[in-house]
Amino acid sequence: MKRLLIVWHSMTGGSEQMACAAATAARAGGEVDVRLQRAGDTSGDDVLAADGYLFVTPENLASMAGLMKDFFDRIYYAALERINGRPYAILICAGSDGTGTVRQIQRIATGLRLREVAPAVIVNTAAQTPEAILAAKTIAEHELQRCRDVGAGLAAGLAAGVF
Ligand SMILES: Cc1cc2nc3c(=O)[nH]c(=O)nc-3n(C[C@H](O)[C@H](O)[C@H](O)COP(=O)(O)O)c2cc1C
Repeated sequence: MKRLLIVWHSMTGGSEQMACAAATAARAGGEVDVRLQRAGDTSGDDVLAADGYLFVTPENLASMAGLMKDFFDRIYYAALERINGRPYAILICAGSDGTGTVRQIQRIATGLRLREVAPAVIVNTAAQTPEAILAAKTIAEHELQRCRDVGAGLAAGLAAGVF
């Protein structure tokens, strides 16, 4: 059975809801082993053992969250040249932007010779004030559906061997 590794970090819950939605949809077909793991708990061996990846992170200070960057820093050389051509997709939770984080992850994934197989999803929570930014997030149903679509698509592609 092919394995999909969903690596996520979240501070106020938005990215976590997005990752969980994608995981639920990916598991629905029952054809793929879906691992949903916090970035801080994910090792190079976890990356090598997977056949495809979904990276889920907030945008913080115009880049990915520090713990997501820590994940890439830790696994990069363990994975380099050993995961060439494997498929991946990106989900970003941001206040109002998210594009810098998408570009940053795409650059790292290009270095790892991964293949992006779905357009990146950016969910904007419209948090602007310090209070709103630090508040727990509730991601709207239509945004969660976009995340489910990516999770289901990754799982279906892995199961069918099209990636
Ligand atoms: C320290 C910090 C920096 C942030 N910087 C940005 C930013 O540069 N661009 C943006 O769109 N949102 C920014 N945000 C807003 C978060 O991306 C937003 O609150 C998002 O919902 C967080 O995701 P989470 O709920 O998974 O933690 C920032 C939030 C924090 C706490």
